[in-house]
Amino acid sequence: MLIRYKKAFEKIAMGLLSFMPSEKDLKKLQQTMKQYETEEDWQLFLWKEEDIIGLMGVLFVSDEIIEIQHISVNPSFRYQGIGKKMVKAFREMFVDKNVRANDNTVAFIDKCSVEDKEMEKGNE
Ligand SMILES: CC(C)(COP(=O)(O)OP(=O)(O)OC[C@H]1O[C@@H](n2cnc3c(N)ncnc32)[C@H](O)[C@@H]1OP(=O)(O)O)[C@@H](O)C(=O)NCCC(=O)NCCS
Repeated sequence: MLIRYKKAFEKIAMGLLSFMPSEKDLKKLQQTMKQYETEEDWQLFLWKEEDIIGLMGVLFVSDEIIEIQHISVNPSFRYQGIGKKMVKAFREMFVDKNVRANDNTVAFIDKCSVEDKEMEKGNE
């Protein structure tokens, strides 16, 4: 399930965030983490099964728009549908908003959107 970040999860969140290609540099990673901890419109969500194995970092751009800036899954749990489940659960949590990707997440988010649309078509 998708849970909200709190300070107790800082280390695990930072580890997950570091899998983003844009966050390989430690200074950049620390700066990004600080933004999530201090800026109100930057929010982290974590995917928890038995342990925390996924992360989504989003920016509340306006009342209508939320941008997915970061998404990552623990490498031991990839290709099991966790990433897609996270995106789906997030969209359901913010069903009245326009949830969109940024340049760093568009490749995967687009993939999720295409598959959601295909499922809708199948249900018609
Ligand atoms: C991207 C990521 C979150 C996907 O998580 P996951 O739990 O493995 O994803 P799922 O199992 O739900 O989906 C797997 C599908 O996503 C595709 N996929 C994986 N990484 C992708 C990427 N960077 N861009 C586009 N598609 C990607 C896989 O090819 C697979 O496709 P298939 O369903 O046709 O086989 C994970 O690979 C990750 O943490 N990557 C490192 C961080 C990163 O690069 N994030 C930005 C991604 S744009």
